[in-house]
Amino acid sequence: MNNTLVVYASRHGTTAEYAKQMLKILDGNVDLCFLNERGADSMPDFSQYNTIVIGGSIHYGKNNKLVVDFTKKNLELLTTKRLGLFVTSYFDGDKALEQLHNAYPKELLDRAIVVDYFDGELLYPKMNFWERLVARAVLKAEEIKPLISKSKITDFADKLNQKHEVKK
Ligand SMILES: Cc1cc2nc3c(=O)[nH]c(=O)nc-3n(C[C@H](O)[C@H](O)[C@H](O)COP(=O)(O)O)c2cc1C
Repeated sequence: MNNTLVVYASRHGTTAEYAKQMLKILDGNVDLCFLNERGADSMPDFSQYNTIVIGGSIHYGKNNKLVVDFTKKNLELLTTKRLGLFVTSYFDGDKALEQLHNAYPKELLDRAIVVDYFDGELLYPKMNFWERLVARAVLKAEEIKPLISKSKITDFADKLNQKHEVKK
């Protein structure tokens, strides 16, 4: 049976929402692991899981530092798992792809069963002063995007649900 751990970090909650959606649509047993500053203290036993999904959000062009540190620290172990990698980003198209490919180590991108970006949101009420300034100046949101881009997350889950082998 598929046993999946979804490891994620989220600043304002959007990536957390995607992680929670994964609970509903991935086959088999699925557990969530929220990365916070305490990190390693609360890490589960990875040997229990054959599939790991990792999700972070893009700020200033980069993936969440907690996710970057997690992937670097566990690189060898992660290459032995079935992998799904995603980021949440406000940009889409070529810019989103570029950010996505800089967000994870090449070793993991090459081996992952599925890699994708999901729609980010600009949640102004949850931002601090500087975040609001940057969001307004750089990202120029005119409309709030819908919270969960259902078709992309469903495609992501379908790919993981279909393939049961670790890539060699
Ligand atoms: C200060 C700030 C900087 C951001 N920088 C980027 C960026 O460089 N590229 C991008 O695609 N999205 C950017 N975003 C959008 C976030 O990726 C988006 O808000 C996402 O939904 C955040 O997810 P989270 O709440 O899970 O952290 C930025 C958002 C803020 C508030």
